[in-house]
Amino acid sequence: MCGIIGYVGDRRASPILFKGLKKLEYRGYDSAGMATSGSGIHLKKVVGEVKKLKPFLSSLPGTIGIAHTRWATHGKVSERNAHPHLDCSGKIAIVHNGIIENHEELKERLKGHEFRSETDSEVIAHLVEENLSRGPLKAVFEAMKLMRGSFSFIVMIEGFPFLIAGRKDTPLYVGIGEGENFVASDVLAFPKGTKVIPLEDYEVALVSKESVAIYRDGKRVKKQARSVSFFEDFEEIEGHYMYKEIKEEPKSVSRAMNQDLSEAIRILRENEVCLIASGTSYHACLMAKLLFSKIAGKKVEVYLASEFSHFLDSIPKDAMIFAVSQSGETADVLEAIKLAKRKVISLVNVPTSTLARISDYVIHLNAGPEVGVAATKSYVNQLVIFTLLAYGLAGKLGEGRKLLQDLPKEIEFIFSQEEKIRMLAEKLRDKEHIFLIGRGYSYPSSLEGALKIKEISYIHAEGFAGGELKHGTLALIEKGTPCIAFVDDEEILNNVNEVKARGGYIIGIAGRHNELFDEFIAVKGFFPITSIVPLQLLSYHLGVLRGYNPDKPRNLAKSVTVK
Ligand code: M6R
Repeated sequence: MCGIIGYVGDRRASPILFKGLKKLEYRGYDSAGMATSGSGIHLKKVVGEVKKLKPFLSSLPGTIGIAHTRWATHGKVSERNAHPHLDCSGKIAIVHNGIIENHEELKERLKGHEFRSETDSEVIAHLVEENLSRGPLKAVFEAMKLMRGSFSFIVMIEGFPFLIAGRKDTPLYVGIGEGENFVASDVLAFPKGTKVIPLEDYEVALVSKESVAIYRDGKRVKKQARSVSFFEDFEEIEGHYMYKEIKEEPKSVSRAMNQDLSEAIRILRENEVCLIASGTSYHACLMAKLLFSKIAGKKVEVYLASEFSHFLDSIPKDAMIFAVSQSGETADVLEAIKLAKRKVISLVNVPTSTLARISDYVIHLNAGPEVGVAATKSYVNQLVIFTLLAYGLAGKLGEGRKLLQDLPKEIEFIFSQEEKIRMLAEKLRDKEHIFLIGRGYSYPSSLEGALKIKEISYIHAEGFAGGELKHGTLALIEKGTPCIAFVDDEEILNNVNEVKARGGYIIGIAGRHNELFDEFIAVKGFFPITSIVPLQLLSYHLGVLRGYNPDKPRNLAKSVTVK
């Protein structure tokens, strides 16, 4: 899940790479490194965030270079394991995202080479070294033939005025500028206005400052560069992206609502679909299952993408896969699609992503760039679209649109209680456990709320269907145990009473106050959507109060491109 970037042009490479790498930091942030080529290869690596490279930029000369921000998989976090990695001669530098699964076997084959890191990635530099006498491009083709697993990589060789990049199963894009070109894991890293060519599996790009040549199976192929508007309104900010992105929800829900869903509704009406997703997107799918059932009487199955393979035998041959992903690059989702070998409809935020490109039909989430690791505005937009699809399936799209027409104002209403939510975070900041309960629509909300609290504040949180507590978990409730209850029906109040009777501290998220509540956050509008917003704000404030950076939770990354 690392981020990689390469630059070749007339300008000094290091500041350009640094700027791009900062934007890729959401992909991993445990260590970083950069290599430039200019009378020799110049290399700098640091443990920690990309900003730690800044003081060294002036020591990295040259107008061609590569850089990397790491999310460790093989080998601990250390300078030695940070990328770029070099071959034995020190003339070939590589950066890599993914996992070379057969790296042990390749190391055996490369006996005699001097390996300096514990990473799987370093084999790429040595494999290229093995065949360099046959020419740089040929050397990369040969290396790729031997590599198994997932990879996107960039190779820079001393004395050659170009970069060579290739991919399989993880994203890589070539960026076309004026007299300069780029390669990166995400379009976001390119300067605004850069045209883009997405690379597909096993494609290799030879990128010099004047030209880009793309090869598939060793043969040159023509690919058209296209403009990408998705990232045009991305701005770098001083504060936290998670906060900014929550605050963008009133605007982004309007973009989700104002689109034509008729073709998507037709496809869903005519086909049996299996929803697959991971993490927060999976919670949105659980909500979709309820919405489709309650509003349209349509049954759908929902699968965790990483578990999908275990159910393959029971998926009807003519069923469609409905893949849901903010990034469109989640490896588990892409792998499930490969296994399924069925038609794909998808709900995706990043229009240039692999998922968007391989789908038979794409519904766009239209949430705009989401950089904070926590999915916030993308989740709300997923719920909006699923609600409209459910109403559309029931032949009542107009009713659905009417139901949501005041959503921006209703989200603003939650924002108006932010100080209350921040004070609640003060009360909860030292708790070890938080439980969340809900029934029906609010069961997925309790799972999603718990995920947000865990990843942003590192407090243990668990979501339950309210009726399930008495089947075991109630044993954990003692005096003062916080329990967040999504109260949208009478029945959940029975479960709230059960917790209260055992001393639980009740935080009610509800349309109106109830005497059982010790704390109360008021929610207006369509409860399955608006009731998650207080949880997003609560998690944010909990994380900040506990001294963590909500944009970079430990051990996580935004785009999960490894299985
Ligand atoms: O990009 P995706 O929606 O496919 O990502 C799936 C999960 O990794 C993601 O939703 C993750 O759970 C969130 N970042 C959590 O906030």
